[in-house]
Amino acid sequence: MLSKNLLTKLNEQITHEFYSAQYYLAMAAYFKKEDLDGFANFFIVQAEEERFHAMKYFEFINDQGEEAIITGFKDPKREFTSAEEIFSLALEHEKLVSSLINDLMNIAQEEKHHPSIGFLQWFIAEQVEEEASMSRLLSLVKRVGEQGHGILMLDRELAARTFNPAAE
Ligand code: FEO
Repeated sequence: MLSKNLLTKLNEQITHEFYSAQYYLAMAAYFKKEDLDGFANFFIVQAEEERFHAMKYFEFINDQGEEAIITGFKDPKREFTSAEEIFSLALEHEKLVSSLINDLMNIAQEEKHHPSIGFLQWFIAEQVEEEASMSRLLSLVKRVGEQGHGILMLDRELAARTFNPAAE
């Protein structure tokens, strides 16, 4: 059984995860427009991961005998000017999501709600990976710059990313 507070916060996290998916899809659209299809692929796959995250919360809430609440949200930012800007924003966004999950874990621990603690452990580990991934790419984009061979090499690397829920 989930407390009202924990249930509310878990439901809010569904919204945050779906919002993340839309935000990353908007970033993918920018890269498509710039003909950087590998970068676009990276963010399309990231959006799929975020929907997968949202559905994990959805299932957990239902497994706890409660009803998941689906809401809308504000439009994500759509105007971007560079790859560096996008990876800075994506890293900032992942840090925000990490802090939300840490807050959720704090509540679960204060309430000694072991099912939630176990469930949230996966997300704590996932956020370490997500922040590291955005941070690495921000650093590489800064190093190679927006034009030239380096960005095309990076685009080729990112084209290979696939969504693999079994490995998630
Ligand atoms: Fe679902 Fe990127 O955090």
